[in-house]
Amino acid sequence: MNAPKDPTPYERLGGDAVVRALVDRFYDLMDLEPQYTELRRTHGSELAHARDKLYWFLSGWLGGPDHYIERFGHPRLRARHLPFAIGVRERDQWLACMNQAMVECGADEDLRVRLLQAFFQTADWLVNRDSVVEKPSRA
Ligand code: HEM
Repeated sequence: MNAPKDPTPYERLGGDAVVRALVDRFYDLMDLEPQYTELRRTHGSELAHARDKLYWFLSGWLGGPDHYIERFGHPRLRARHLPFAIGVRERDQWLACMNQAMVECGADEDLRVRLLQAFFQTADWLVNRDSVVEKPSRA
């Protein structure tokens, strides 16, 4: 007899509706919360495309349907992020924003911590610049 398969992170999170809700909350928070200002600034004025693409991507990345690859092929995430200035500050804001969205969407603690570690690996690999540190102006 086959051993029952462990549920995928996609299933543990709650499937399609929860992945969509997670991505929507992630971008709403990015838009609303002042602590994510620099992350928001890397994006254009509208976030609709970014919402759809991250939702399609995460669906497959979490072990669900591969909507992104079906539409666009290999994600080439590092190349696709090169036009945007991503420093450690932007990386950390992305991770904090995603963490807050996962908490608010009710991801269980164990899954949230594991996903955050996996997100860190990807987000860190996307860092492509030094963060611009604003110098204090001289009096
Ligand atoms: C490290 C900090 C990150 C920053 C600052 C960032 C920023 C961006 C920006 C500005 C876009 C373009 C959005 C648009 O089309 O309007 C984008 C696209 C995208 N991001 Fe990120 N991102 C980060 C991390 C990540 C991570 C960790 C993932 C995956 C786990 C990810 C997945 C994607 C995907 C799938 C797209 C769409 C790519 C395409 O087909 O054009 N990003 N990101």
